[in-house]
Amino acid sequence: MKNEYQLYIDGEWVKTSDQLEVLNKYTQDTYVKVAKASEKEVDLAVSAAERAFKKDTMSPYQRYEILKRVSELLQENKEELARNITMEAGKPLKQARTEVDRAALTFEISAEEAKRIHGEGVPVEAAPGSENRMAFTIKVPVGVVGAISPFNFPINLVAHKIAPAIAAGNAVVLKPASKTPISSLKLAELFHEAGLPKGFLNVVVGSGSTVGNQMMEDSRIQLYTFTGSAEVGMKLKQNTGLNKLILELGNNSPVIIDKEADIAAAAKNSAAKSFAFAGQVCISVQRLYIHEEVKEEFQNKFIEAVKKLKIGDPNDPDTDVGPMIAEDEAIRTEQWIEEAKQAGAKVVYGGQREGALVYPTVLSNVKPDMKVVCEEIFAPVVTLIPFTNIEDCIEEVNKSPYGLQGGIFTQNLDTAFYAAKNVQVGGFMINDASQYRVDLMPYGGVKDSGWGKEGPKYSIEEMTEERLVVMNLKN
Ligand code: SIN
Repeated sequence: MKNEYQLYIDGEWVKTSDQLEVLNKYTQDTYVKVAKASEKEVDLAVSAAERAFKKDTMSPYQRYEILKRVSELLQENKEELARNITMEAGKPLKQARTEVDRAALTFEISAEEAKRIHGEGVPVEAAPGSENRMAFTIKVPVGVVGAISPFNFPINLVAHKIAPAIAAGNAVVLKPASKTPISSLKLAELFHEAGLPKGFLNVVVGSGSTVGNQMMEDSRIQLYTFTGSAEVGMKLKQNTGLNKLILELGNNSPVIIDKEADIAAAAKNSAAKSFAFAGQVCISVQRLYIHEEVKEEFQNKFIEAVKKLKIGDPNDPDTDVGPMIAEDEAIRTEQWIEEAKQAGAKVVYGGQREGALVYPTVLSNVKPDMKVVCEEIFAPVVTLIPFTNIEDCIEEVNKSPYGLQGGIFTQNLDTAFYAAKNVQVGGFMINDASQYRVDLMPYGGVKDSGWGKEGPKYSIEEMTEERLVVMNLKN
């Protein structure tokens, strides 16, 4: 394992005078040092991407071959990549291994999609006065894609940005999260080995306020794909004019436990999906709406399932809940819990913090305006909220400014479909919690949760333009 990494620009590894320290998130010791991009490197990266795109050196089949090879290399290097995620993100090893498998699949699906990008015939002759014409559309890449990725899935959320962009024929400038940049640089190594022509992928590391802002202001970037907070998403939307955007933002995911649910299954499923990666997943369960008639039974079974989670060292392959990304995030979480307690919430389980580790925490007696309910906590904290009828419950669910994914547990089809039709979200799960994602499905929210969809097929739609070609056969 190297202890120093460089930037990847125009097919070369680039050293800089300034370095950034990446911490081992469990011990808080320095893990590796990474070159930090200045204005000059960001500019070089965008220039390289623009040059590569203008040369148009990759056919769809070449893109397929390269993406397929990266997928294979991800599998071949799975253990090293997973262990790196555990070090730089503090993600429990078994979840990190799953993430690498998912990234390999994201690349494989993107490779396949590279062969299916096509337009359609347009019957223009059907318009009066438009006889003797033939028309069709073609899908063309947008150009340079600016990708800004978060810390919580250091390889698979990067894969969701880069793989479809390249499948569509674009060139990419990637700014990974500065707390977890190593996965992206390792991915660049795999692309290099797979034979990606220079300039099609450039990785620049630095903070959002320097590298991110500079990318945001660069008019050579045609599309931004961003996963992160609603606040930064809003800033991107306000500052990027008429550029295309894919924004995957926050959520305070609701899951409804109906009185006709299989309570044991619902409790086990929701417990696992409230605390994976310490709740730092945009679709992690945060608000559990439980029918009054099954409240006690559900709560008991839920706590029973939470007690079985193994907490601690993320390197231990049995660990379920490890540290949060940084101690200051754990302190913020503790403050939100304290604030809720002051306003009347009851800690039913957990509530303790040790450094960056927050124990799985379950709160009851919460009110809609408490931060733990109405804002995205992005931490291992879940709230229990009773309800008596489904219509009122859904009205309450929809008061959230967010709408990424949600779920319901019920054996009653009418209730399930009533909820699916009325809950304002981008994705809704029946008999599963909100945290369900496989990499070929459309993924993206409504309201403050975002704009546009991820999932290779859907991202490729966003990352291409439809161009109309009309031939006048009279001439
Ligand atoms: C996210 O946190 O938005 C990504 C969830 C996932 O890919 O499973």
